[in-house]
Amino acid sequence: MRTETPPLIRLEEYRPSDYLIDRVDLDIRLDPHATRIDATLALRPNPAGRAGAPLHLDGDDLRLVSVALDGAALAADAYTATPSGFGLHAPPGQPFSLRLVTEIDPTANTKLMGLYRSNGVYCTQCEADGFRRITYFLDRPDVMAVYTTRIEADRAEAPVLLGNGNLVESGSAGTDRHFAIWHDPHPKPAYLFALVGGRLGQVETRFTTMEGRAVTCAVYVEPGKEDRAGYALDAVIRSMRWDETAFGRPYDLDAFNVVAVSDFNMGAMENKGLNIFNDKYVLASPETATDGDYAAIEAIIAHEYFHNWSGNRVTCRDWFQLCLKEGLTVFRDQEFSSDMRSRPVHRIAEVRSLRARQFPEDAGPLRHPVRPRAYAEINNFYTATVYDKGAEIVRMLRTLIGADAFRAGMDRYFADNDGRAATVEDFLAAFAAVTGRDLSAFARWYERPGTPRLTATMAYDPAASRCTLRFTQSLPGEGGRDTPPLVIPVALGLVGAAGPLSGATCPDVRDGIFVLDRAEAEIVFDGVTEEPVPSLMRDFSAPVRLDLALTDAQRMRLLAQDSDPFNRWQAAQDVALRLILEPDPARAYAFAEALGRFLDSEALSDPAFAALVLALPSEGEAADALLSDVDPDAIHRARFALRAHLGQVLRPRLERLDAALAAADDAAYSPDAASAGRRSLRNAALDLIAAGDPETGASRAADRLARATNMTDRLAALGILALIPGQAREEALAGFAERFADEPLVLDKWFAIQAQIPEPGTLDRIARLKAHPAFTMTNPNRVRAVVGSFAFGNPTQFARADGAGFSLVADTVAALDSANPQVAARLLTAFGSWRRLEKSRAAKAGEMLNRIKAIPGLSRDSADIVARTLG
Ligand code: ARG
Ligand code: ZN
Repeated sequence: MRTETPPLIRLEEYRPSDYLIDRVDLDIRLDPHATRIDATLALRPNPAGRAGAPLHLDGDDLRLVSVALDGAALAADAYTATPSGFGLHAPPGQPFSLRLVTEIDPTANTKLMGLYRSNGVYCTQCEADGFRRITYFLDRPDVMAVYTTRIEADRAEAPVLLGNGNLVESGSAGTDRHFAIWHDPHPKPAYLFALVGGRLGQVETRFTTMEGRAVTCAVYVEPGKEDRAGYALDAVIRSMRWDETAFGRPYDLDAFNVVAVSDFNMGAMENKGLNIFNDKYVLASPETATDGDYAAIEAIIAHEYFHNWSGNRVTCRDWFQLCLKEGLTVFRDQEFSSDMRSRPVHRIAEVRSLRARQFPEDAGPLRHPVRPRAYAEINNFYTATVYDKGAEIVRMLRTLIGADAFRAGMDRYFADNDGRAATVEDFLAAFAAVTGRDLSAFARWYERPGTPRLTATMAYDPAASRCTLRFTQSLPGEGGRDTPPLVIPVALGLVGAAGPLSGATCPDVRDGIFVLDRAEAEIVFDGVTEEPVPSLMRDFSAPVRLDLALTDAQRMRLLAQDSDPFNRWQAAQDVALRLILEPDPARAYAFAEALGRFLDSEALSDPAFAALVLALPSEGEAADALLSDVDPDAIHRARFALRAHLGQVLRPRLERLDAALAAADDAAYSPDAASAGRRSLRNAALDLIAAGDPETGASRAADRLARATNMTDRLAALGILALIPGQAREEALAGFAERFADEPLVLDKWFAIQAQIPEPGTLDRIARLKAHPAFTMTNPNRVRAVVGSFAFGNPTQFARADGAGFSLVADTVAALDSANPQVAARLLTAFGSWRRLEKSRAAKAGEMLNRIKAIPGLSRDSADIVARTLG
């Protein structure tokens, strides 16, 4: 049997459910292999649905034990039950109750969707459609019900029992068993259902909301790891406070629980009142977590908490509207992190990640609109486009209407849609209502796939003190003048030899923004007394690729003089990127000198920013800048050579900086942004020194490793050493593995560093890593650390000319696909840019994709990705 291309579900075919469910009463008896779910659903015909239609409930891998309608057993010919659905042929025309008892095996659930066990802890993941693996249900987000959940379990096996909402009762249920009843008063879709049962330790604290509600906030972790849960708990409290101040959104239950589990397909999940997390985004101590981990924990805790309003109180009508909750919530977590840390530094990090993940996605066969119009498998649409480009759309909206109108529009959106399942149209309608604006042209951002190109040119007329900027927008793959234009906010300024030209004026620019809403436009600045350098797309004001031909000298003026930190950083990136694509020793030297002047004047006043300026565009970004014929080896060599050159020219300065920063480094570790910034600059300096002089680099890195008092410095040093072949590297790796042998999350870092070594020997190394006792194919974090890091973070070896790198990833996908299709399908997306590779590599990748396509019984998840990738 050959895998068919899976059928599509289409937005235009949406229709309301024929039935609604108002209340759900669950009695769940946890058992490792035979968990019983006794569900009573209060159903009624939906006035907006088809009267008298048969009732079909979704199911996935279910076994029906019994069924009753309004308390009476059903005749065998009145219904149909299969593992994948339950049908009631002639439902009553008025409200009725359906009691369904199902039985499932949580231990055998390797897909990690529905109810499963992670390290012996019972937990759930229901988004997008896992609830149907627990009981038969109308598993769609526009069916919202009030849930009461009784959980019963063996007291020794699961002393902690958690559910959605508030705890209403608990007690013993016979000698060895106990129970807890949780009630969630807020109607919610099934994807927000959750329960947890297990042996867990906890840290907790109180928070009083702006409405005076006392909330108990707790973070549950593996017993013995409570001392690593404090940072996450603190982030919960800061998130609660911030959402009140920034958006006026208070919490709405008496309890807010976060649970860390070790086997989790994604980052975390916003179940109502009971967020479940991949433990990697909860557990942190200075010895085990890097500054980057702390920042990620803060951001993801905030993200899931913010969903309580943007996602839970206001949810999505259907999965096509996923960006409605995800794009908006990413925007909200980005704003939170920017307020907690350095705003410009955080903005640069956001854009780097957008360019690394979303731009290639948008330029390849997996591209899709922020609001897709069709899908075969919704779990494949939790993408960088939906999340990160979705967040950029919200950001542009704020830029266009201004911060005050944006806040008013958000208030309106929450007020108008509270308790509802909404659409992108509902979201935009709130902003149209408060501003009186027509946002229909802006709405095109949700519909158009692809990264727009914005081409700009400047003409200067000294006699008239006049400067003209000409803009053209185009969307790749979309032809010509008939495509309606996008609305692009262009934040801009003109920069003279000594800084921004404040006297220049342009009637088309308001508050530093020109709104380009036509295919082409020309704007004129007067009072321009010297030839300026245009600074365009300041703060990355829209997710576009900017084409603006500037000389290196002009860009270095922006680095030195622009008032916009993002464009200062961007200017250095642009010069570096060109030097990677077109190496030129003389220009490289001038670039190094300019960086040197920059470091001298301000590295110590903003180390985090300086570290970002020193970090060259990644190999992936260089590949993304080329439209075709990508040779990852050539890119790697060129980038490596530029790093070496910078390291040599800048060495004395880098050493001075390192020494100056070392002095501030004596205090105890703190994850705050300023301390993290100092560490990042020191490590960036050492990285460049090592690139310029590997021998010195190896010994300094070994020294830093030996003296390290925290994971940030330890891992940075190990990463530097990993790029320098030799005995020192192997000893350092072995020492690290021994020291952290009992720390799976730390070993993931060790796995990832090695999987990314850009050497042919990495393939054999990966074979050894897969045989390491800590490695297992059943844990998504382990698979991602070894194979994911290789596929997404080792361009030269993944795309080896002999095809062996593709083969390694394909083998893993094949081995994983039936056990955990979601993780397998995610790995497969690494092939997304295959057609842009030079011909012989592309041919090997194509062969491999066809091999996967031919696997009998391939999951819908993987079949969908392969079909679209092959196009
Ligand atoms: N809503 C979760 C988050 O914040 C992601 C859940 C995705 N899960 C999945 N199986 N597709 O962002
Ligand atoms: Zn989310």
